[in-house]
Amino acid sequence: MAGRPDTPGLIDKYGRVATDLRVSLTDRCNLRCQYCMPAEGLDWLPSADILTDEELLRVLRIAVRDLGITDIRLTGGEPLLRRGLEDLVAEITALRPRPRVAMTTNGIGLAKRAARLAAAGLDRINVSLDTIDRQTFVEITRRDRLHHVLEGLRAAQEAGLRPVKVNAVLLRGVNDHQACSLLRFCLEHGYHLRFIEQMPLDAQHQWNRAEMITADEILAILRTEFTLEPSPAERGSAPAERWLVDGGPGEVGVIASVTKPFCQACNRTRLTADGSLRSCLFSTDETDLRTILRSGGSDEDVANAWRATMWAKGPGHEINSAGFAQPLRPMSAIGG
Ligand code: 5AD
Ligand code: SF4
Repeated sequence: MAGRPDTPGLIDKYGRVATDLRVSLTDRCNLRCQYCMPAEGLDWLPSADILTDEELLRVLRIAVRDLGITDIRLTGGEPLLRRGLEDLVAEITALRPRPRVAMTTNGIGLAKRAARLAAAGLDRINVSLDTIDRQTFVEITRRDRLHHVLEGLRAAQEAGLRPVKVNAVLLRGVNDHQACSLLRFCLEHGYHLRFIEQMPLDAQHQWNRAEMITADEILAILRTEFTLEPSPAERGSAPAERWLVDGGPGEVGVIASVTKPFCQACNRTRLTADGSLRSCLFSTDETDLRTILRSGGSDEDVANAWRATMWAKGPGHEINSAGFAQPLRPMSAIGG
């Protein structure tokens, strides 16, 4: 780690400090969103390769105790498919210093579990929802499960996981004309909607820049029915640009990951379900923590491997440069 100052936190060469950990709990999913997976699904990771609860908790303990991680987001695939999730959440929120714990989910099955997750200490939730039109939902996700997602959203709010955030991806000619109805629905229910530019993370490698709906286009679509003015809220390292809708208090966020990368403010680090560390969604290399864990490595070995991974972090993704290579793992195996 040539040149790295002797400091415990997850610093990199560009002055950033990672305090926000994204953990993928499984690469499996019960939807097949077009921008993520092919219809037939993917070859799932072998279960022997997935970190056990015990291994995962050890890693998370090191992260919060020794490496300065303050925020943990549980992702997938679909994190609700992880067995024993509620117990895992309770054990993560029992770590000290207590991390804030959030989850990104597709909402299926959440209706029955939101209250228990909140009781286990889950602080916040993001639900992916790209449309409130049933046919369009089937077209995008290849499953007829819109009603389950809507029930999940309601249950999350009733369980006090507020504000419930909704993540949406717009696909040209599929749901782009429904952006306003989705926003109206979210405003009516008090859900905080954020549109995310589609990124080249699909397993099929079909992402195409010309097809992507840009943040500017999203704003133009929304302005056909709403007035938007910049929100006075602080942005910090949050990737969403926030807009007050029709004078407020309702807001909408737009995450311009491709057209206005926020890499220079990135405070994230990632752990895949099979125990690999990544410094970026778009990293082309990973650090295999699982082997360190399973070959008798010490907590300090784990911490140092993590520090080295982050010290090697590049300045940002290169989606906008000619030589861009999509990461080998798709989004569902990295965690959103
Ligand atoms: N581009 C942008 N967002 C994506 N998501 C999944 N795949 C992509 C992609 N290619 C979103 C999901 C979910 C979160 C984990 O990331 O909709 O909200
Ligand atoms: Fe599942 Fe999320 Fe991928 Fe959709 S985007 S298929 S919900 S992992």
